[in-house]
Amino acid sequence: MSTIIVGTPVIAGLGELFKAHGLSKKTVVLFDEHTRKLFGDNLLQTLHHEGFQLKELVVPAREASKSFSVAYRLYGSMIEADVDRSWNLLVVGGGVVGDLGGFIAASYFRGIPVIQLPTTLLAMTDSSIGGKVAINHPLGKNLIGFFHSPELVLIDPSYLASLPIREIYAGMAEVVKYGFIADEPLFNFLDLHFSDITSLKEPYLTEAVKKSAFIKDDVVKKDFRETNGLRATLNFGHTFAHGLEKLAEYRYLRHGEAVTIGMVCALFLSHNLGYLDRESLERGLSLLQKFRFPGGLVKRRFLSLDCDLLLESMFSDKKKLNKKLRFVLLRKIGEAFLLEADIDDQKVLQAIQDAMARFSQINQR
Ligand SMILES: NC(=O)c1ccc[n+]([C@@H]2O[C@H](COP(=O)([O-])OP(=O)(O)OC[C@H]3O[C@@H](n4cnc5c(N)ncnc54)[C@H](O)[C@@H]3O)[C@@H](O)[C@H]2O)c1
Ligand SMILES: [Zn+2]
Repeated sequence: MSTIIVGTPVIAGLGELFKAHGLSKKTVVLFDEHTRKLFGDNLLQTLHHEGFQLKELVVPAREASKSFSVAYRLYGSMIEADVDRSWNLLVVGGGVVGDLGGFIAASYFRGIPVIQLPTTLLAMTDSSIGGKVAINHPLGKNLIGFFHSPELVLIDPSYLASLPIREIYAGMAEVVKYGFIADEPLFNFLDLHFSDITSLKEPYLTEAVKKSAFIKDDVVKKDFRETNGLRATLNFGHTFAHGLEKLAEYRYLRHGEAVTIGMVCALFLSHNLGYLDRESLERGLSLLQKFRFPGGLVKRRFLSLDCDLLLESMFSDKKKLNKKLRFVLLRKIGEAFLLEADIDDQKVLQAIQDAMARFSQINQR
């Protein structure tokens, strides 16, 4: 399992740290174009001074980089540079390069160690932890991949200073999710310090990142391959979110924005089915109403959308394959469970309608 280190500056003394974890100082460093510009020179210089042998790789900063053709090109560069099993791969960036780098590390020479240096809030609190790595297939996202745990996850919240506010909110959705599913004190802390965290104020930011990363790690340790229902609770709000993302053609909404709306729906569903009391529902909604969405298209289309369309989008693949939707619900704030029973479509639709009625009043950023 992985060692997670949270601190600033996290890259000080990497040589020693690698040694302590049995990692060689022969490292392929994978960036996207943005993280190369923002952090590349400083990081590569630091590693160089520590005596590392380095091979640098850069991919375009977009979801489409999680593809077989990009992976194939990178394998080629690594083979040409004589990278073998004695090397490791350090990934510097958000979930896109995290997933791509993890996929390459899991498959190259039958697997080399991967070290994650996440630079988005989503990657620090979610995608870099837990060892799920994947590329996309034209028929669906994240369909081709492995479970390949990182040796190290190195988290430095000060890297977030350059991250656009939209990405901060998107990552914050997953942070809030951990409060909902596993930790009521974290929920209260996030409720109290929401704007401190989104404006990157310390010590609140580091506290929120650290708590989230360790909750994810803990859940993953107890259910690595998602077999006993626990890891599935990380998908709170996600069944609705996936329907929304599909409606948005995976372009107009950030994943975290879809998850924010999805969690509003999931709160109503939990309440309407009798699992969550009214007071907890209202507390949950009041935290989610602190999120801000970009104006224009996003606000127009997704904060007051046609509820039947969303239901249809959620069910479209499933019904064809005769499969059921799975919902994660709350029993109270800090306690989630995977509902095994079937739910009537009308109940799901009602939750979406309740969510839209409440959420369409949200403030424009
Ligand atoms: N493996 C998992 O468990 C898991 C979990 C959740 C999401 N994911 C995957 O993660 C991906 C999304 O990740 P993401 O939201 O981090 O997006 P991303 O990697 O596309 O990063 C978002 C944007 O921010 C830029 N960026 C990164 N760090 C920056 C910084 N510090 N300052 C300024 N700009 C910076 C990137 O270059 C990019 O343009 C999706 O592909 C999703 O499938 C994987
Ligand atoms: Zn998510």
